[in-house]
Amino acid sequence: MMESLASDQFGRERQYTQRFFNVVSIVYPIIEWHLFPEYKTILQHLDLPTHYSVLDIATGSGILAGAFAERGHAVTGIDFSRKLLKRAKKQFPQVWFEQLDLIHLDQYADNHFDVISMGYFLHGLSVSFRHFILKEVRRISKKYVLVFDYCCTGNWFIRLIEWLEGSNYPLFIALNKQNMFEQNGLQIVQDEQTSGFGQYWLLKP
Ligand SMILES: C[S@@+](CC[C@H](N)C(=O)[O-])C[C@H]1O[C@@H](n2cnc3c(N)ncnc32)[C@H](O)[C@@H]1O
Repeated sequence: MMESLASDQFGRERQYTQRFFNVVSIVYPIIEWHLFPEYKTILQHLDLPTHYSVLDIATGSGILAGAFAERGHAVTGIDFSRKLLKRAKKQFPQVWFEQLDLIHLDQYADNHFDVISMGYFLHGLSVSFRHFILKEVRRISKKYVLVFDYCCTGNWFIRLIEWLEGSNYPLFIALNKQNMFEQNGLQIVQDEQTSGFGQYWLLKP
């Protein structure tokens, strides 16, 4: 019942997003070229114990999942874009990828993974879906939640992609992130700007 209510509530938002990411999968090499080295550098800096299991939600073409796997973590990556997952599987065969709509996160038990990660996902969500996701990741994660996302306005290419996605990007940038995380039971333990437009937040449930 809970699930079907949530499915209905966020249905149109998710349908549009799924179509959008299948189409833009073609420009993903450009995004990967920038983000993959950044993810690897930050994971090296954080140096989380490599026996921690990781669930990378909204994994896209799998670059954050792959960066964890290259350090030796057991990683699962989930996303609903078939085209991006195909690319992810080709690039990172050591990661377990599954096609899953994040509305179905309830299939994972409480504290199921040590770490839940997400790269450049939250900014695209409506306020209510964002709260739904943050509450779910808090429930599923045992040790940490790691979020990469926008802190600041990006260049013309980023603004164009975000405009096409029809995302909540400008509102997300303006948000007080500490309040947003705390409202959903997550405490910031470390955060740092990673580029002209990006930042990470390491959170404890
Ligand atoms: C901007 S991309 C980020 C991809 C990847 N994390 C990265 O850092 O490159 C956002 C991803 O969220 C996925 N996504 C958005 N809503 C989703 C949902 N409801 N269920 C599953 N995946 C979703 C999209 O398919 C897309 O791959």
